Amino acid sequence: MPTWLVTGGAGFIGGNFVLEAVAKGIRVINLDALTYAGNLDTLSSLEGDPNHVFVHGNIGDQSLVSRLLAEHQPDAVVNFAAESHVDRSIDGPGAFVQTNVVGTLALLESVRDYWRALEGAKRDAFRLLHVSTDEVYGSLGDTGKFTESTPFAPNSPYSASKAASDHLVRAFHHTYGLPVLTTNCSNNYGPYHFPEKLIPLIIARALAGEPLPVYGDGKNVRDWLYVSDHCSAIRTVLEKGRPGETYNVGGDAERQNIEVVEAICKLLDERRPRADGEPRASQITYVTDRPGHDRRYAIDASKLQGELGWKPQYTFEKGIAQTVDWYLENQAWVKRVLDGSYRLERIGAAA
Ligand SMILES: NC(=O)c1ccc[n+]([C@@H]2O[C@H](COP(=O)([O-])OP(=O)(O)OC[C@H]3O[C@@H](n4cnc5c(N)ncnc54)[C@H](O)[C@@H]3O)[C@@H](O)[C@H]2O)c1
Repeated sequence: MPTWLVTGGAGFIGGNFVLEAVAKGIRVINLDALTYAGNLDTLSSLEGDPNHVFVHGNIGDQSLVSRLLAEHQPDAVVNFAAESHVDRSIDGPGAFVQTNVVGTLALLESVRDYWRALEGAKRDAFRLLHVSTDEVYGSLGDTGKFTESTPFAPNSPYSASKAASDHLVRAFHHTYGLPVLTTNCSNNYGPYHFPEKLIPLIIARALAGEPLPVYGDGKNVRDWLYVSDHCSAIRTVLEKGRPGETYNVGGDAERQNIEVVEAICKLLDERRPRADGEPRASQITYVTDRPGHDRRYAIDASKLQGELGWKPQYTFEKGIAQTVDWYLENQAWVKRVLDGSYRLERIGAAA
């Protein structure tokens, strides 16, 4: 049974990834600093499972990471740990550089030293997979898609810090031969998403009868991918990807933000109509745009699909309906993660 060291596995995508990996029989060592975005509630179904070892710690702590690597001898490391919210990076970019750049560098150094000491088949098969974003490529006009050779042009402190980490990962392959893989994925949605991000935020505010804030004219386009499709893409790249390569991950589901918000309103109206019978779309309010808001992202995932045979399983319609249902059934999770430090308020408005 393989062992994977997963970082950031108490967050949104990492949490989904860990739940799926353990269900598939992988032994997971889960290293997470439990920032506001990390929630052990997500992993409560794994309590007492010997195939899940949770370690509360920082990817920047080299002595801890080196000790975990030596003790558990993982076959792969998957790095999700990051500061991930663009609006927060506008208010405070320092934390993003600290975790996403300095932290990733520390992790790379520990993993390189561990890998160098491995021998034979275990050394040949070892992989470090770095999870990154399509935001490193900047913004698109009305046409075209990001490919793996699109030049980096990050526009927010978040995407700049992720771009820097991607470059470090690449450099560790070219300089030290570390067998790395990088995935650059479009916007994810699904269960266990912290309610500051667009989709869970709109669901929460719609249910609370509050205004539904849409940035700018609502016509910014994101290419949405259901989170379990991202998890399966990462497993595919781990298994079949060529070391040193990067793979774009996306589901061909471009939607304007306003279309996403309207779809959620419609699903909630069907499932949980408002007491006064008014449509939830009447709660939509346009607010000042995010400073430097990228207009459009779209992913060309043909390398991952053609070379490695990965395919997404969810259309946007199926994924968003499943997501709305999950939030309706898991309000207790939402309440617990909103422990008082974040109250669905607007952040990152001032440049
Ligand atoms: N959410 C998306 O749409 C999306 C899309 C593409 C790529 N990504 C990337 O995927 C990864 C996971 O994103 P997410 O949305 O799940 O983020 P998230 O904010 O929900 O989770 C991040 C997790 O990392 C942990 N963490 C933060 N700093 C840490 C540190 N120094 N050491 C150890 N753990 C730390 C947090 O506690 C949290 O559990 C990130 O690297 C992000 O850049 C996200």
